[in-house]
Amino acid sequence: MNRVHIKTYGCQMNERDSEAVAAMLRARGYRIVESEDDCDVLLLNTCSVRDAAEQKAIGKAGYALSRKRHSPDFVLGILGCMAQNRGAELLDRLPDVDLIVGTQKFHRVPDYLDNLRAARDSGVPLGEAIVDTAEEAGSQNTIRDHVEGPERKVCAFVSIQQGCNMDCAFCIVPTTRGDERSRPMDDIVRECEEVVSRGAREVTLLGQIVTSYGRRDYPHTGGVSPFVQLLERVHAIPGLERIRFTSPHPRGFRQDLADAFGRLPKLGEHVHLPVQSGSDRILRAMKRPYTRDRYLEIVASLRAARPSLAFSTDIIVGFPGETDEDFEDTRRLCEAVDYDMAYIFKYSVRTGTPAATMPGQVPAEVREERNRVLLEELGRGSLRRSQALVGTVQEVLVEGADKTGERFMGRTRGNRVTVLEAAPRLVGALVPVEVTRASVSTLYGSLVAAGLQSPLGAASL
Ligand code: 5AD
Repeated sequence: MNRVHIKTYGCQMNERDSEAVAAMLRARGYRIVESEDDCDVLLLNTCSVRDAAEQKAIGKAGYALSRKRHSPDFVLGILGCMAQNRGAELLDRLPDVDLIVGTQKFHRVPDYLDNLRAARDSGVPLGEAIVDTAEEAGSQNTIRDHVEGPERKVCAFVSIQQGCNMDCAFCIVPTTRGDERSRPMDDIVRECEEVVSRGAREVTLLGQIVTSYGRRDYPHTGGVSPFVQLLERVHAIPGLERIRFTSPHPRGFRQDLADAFGRLPKLGEHVHLPVQSGSDRILRAMKRPYTRDRYLEIVASLRAARPSLAFSTDIIVGFPGETDEDFEDTRRLCEAVDYDMAYIFKYSVRTGTPAATMPGQVPAEVREERNRVLLEELGRGSLRRSQALVGTVQEVLVEGADKTGERFMGRTRGNRVTVLEAAPRLVGALVPVEVTRASVSTLYGSLVAAGLQSPLGAASL
């Protein structure tokens, strides 16, 4: 009972939490295996942000549990956001689940599996589920030291905070992830140094609302927020080439952060800045404390600091009360920003959130249609922006094999996935690539020996 497969749903934070659980389990002697069908323990690290994400994990769990008929020792655990959101209630739908562990208790997973194993070894059949969704003070400090995986990672995720104290009317995250808590700056910098010493060249700082990082723990100094102070310290790490972060909130995106893009060249030329809606009326109903003009002002201030900056965003269509005019405002905002990429979500009712009981719920067909229109327009914009890069030389950080395993892939400074012919020794290197072809989301190119214009100086081959 020591082969564990972890299946992750949802955001990068979940990916990162799964990596941490995998590292802790390896340290306890468990084997992390690739195959979902060939494991003794299946852990589903779940997402609750939309109903569809929960249904997907519930479907998978139901299917997996049928294995218990042939292999009574097979263990199924549900971890993370849906575990936190639904807790023991999940047992009504999935009575044979063995383990339900919430978002502040990932570090307890090895103990719980050990307990299940010890019970099984002493001949006790697996019985009542272990359910642990309690809050735990200081849990933001338990998710670390996750980097001891077998493979060398070029791009590492480092968690800087947990939870969120905003009360966006549509969002379940404050329930699933709890209050906003920041990790100490020294710990984060140390972890970044460590991942770089193990081969990472890019670090993505992760949090639900990174722009609020450390606001209760560290003072502003000289007009510089704690988050920008953290960026400065991470920027100073030798050997680190690129820094990214996700997700910021427009409310906390002040001039000091825009200025940082002008003076910290390792900051990637891409910002993911969730807007949610382009209508002031809907933003107010969503309790998003900014206007469309303020959002456009932030975009302009960032482009002033770094003209080549690419933007991506999250948008919800069909929030309660959204009219055709509101949707049109969102459409026009997208045109104005000229996003490289956007995640578009059809509004999904989350029980317990204020929006769930708001009047004016938008019919499913209307949500569907707005989703379609926006996807199509954004796809066209992405393709145009990709194609504009054909013929240019981009700095690409080579991450590893591409999906087919025949070529290599990396990303440009603007975060565009780029497929290229390369040699294994170039994994982890910044290389100049001439873009020869472009699709909506992927660039194709070939290595060139010179001609790279990079704020970090020309990369060597
Ligand atoms: N319905 C649809 N999309 C949602 N998101 C969050 N809550 C909901 C919901 N109830 C989207 C937001 C957020 C992203 C992670 O998920 O756009 O930024």
